[in-house]
Amino acid sequence: MKHFLNTQDWSRAELDTLLASAAEFKRQPVGAQLRGKSIALVFFNPSLRTRTSFELGAFQLGGHAVVLAPGKDAWPIEFAPGAVMDGEAEEHIAEVARVLARYVDLIAVRAFPRFRDWTEDREDTVLRAFARHSTVPVINLETITHPCQELAHALALQEHFGTTDLRGKKYVLTWTYHPRPLNTAVANSALTIATRLGMDVTLLCPTPEYILDERYLGWARDNVVESGGSFRVSHDIAEAYRGADVVYAKSWGAIPYFGRWEEEKPVRDAHRHFIVDEAKMALTNDAVFSHCLPLRRNVKATDAVMDSPRCIAIDEAENRLHVQKAVMAALVGQQA
Ligand code: CP
Repeated sequence: MKHFLNTQDWSRAELDTLLASAAEFKRQPVGAQLRGKSIALVFFNPSLRTRTSFELGAFQLGGHAVVLAPGKDAWPIEFAPGAVMDGEAEEHIAEVARVLARYVDLIAVRAFPRFRDWTEDREDTVLRAFARHSTVPVINLETITHPCQELAHALALQEHFGTTDLRGKKYVLTWTYHPRPLNTAVANSALTIATRLGMDVTLLCPTPEYILDERYLGWARDNVVESGGSFRVSHDIAEAYRGADVVYAKSWGAIPYFGRWEEEKPVRDAHRHFIVDEAKMALTNDAVFSHCLPLRRNVKATDAVMDSPRCIAIDEAENRLHVQKAVMAALVGQQA
């Protein structure tokens, strides 16, 4: 049984099939691939796009979605094996995942890191526990990667460039300022999918402390060997933007400061100038700009960039609906 926890677990041919299926769902949004099927959407964190697009995607394919927020409208869950459960949690993942799997055909989970200890967060404990105990496929709705966003981003780029072959495109993933340290998931995912698709990828971030986890750098390096792209890190804004075909922006907290965010804040505050603006975009090869959203205007990117015809963030957000239908249909199809 295959889960959708990371795109890295799926072959390039399988990803191409998902993207082709998503493009077909965009042409023909309604179907019966999930008729009589259901999905549990388990949210430990807020969402606008993910929740809406999964609920509507299931509906459009004839299925049904149940949304649960453990600790709010469902019981708090314990994840530690062998725990003496005399704290807040009322039930253990060993029961939660197996019970849900008796009811539904797919389980999807959003569980952000706790931002206290990266060595703990990088184990992706919540998602992995669902996958271990579930007897139906599990989908990652964003934990320490965001694979559904990756597919939506990839489809938007393929649409924009009018080809599924993105090799040779100069792709810049730029860190941007945000008043709070954010999850590294979308940044990890952007590196993963951009290198997988054979683009020439630059990770632009303020200082070496903002370089992403070695696991994802390793995936990027492995991917370019297979895809023929390239991967490098830069701290030079002008040099990184010059000639770029794609600028993808995201803010994230620096891993060495996990749990010590008050010490990271002055470092982050000193790099507000990483905002994506018209001057930086003017250095590019008329690049397309995108962001996973939500985005704080005039903090991460200016109004002018967001309102430019080169901004495809709304197309990318729409594509969440179509790629997720492709993922759900594929996962349900393997059980048929
Ligand atoms: N990009 C994304 O996942 O959006 P939400 O957090 O609104 O779901």
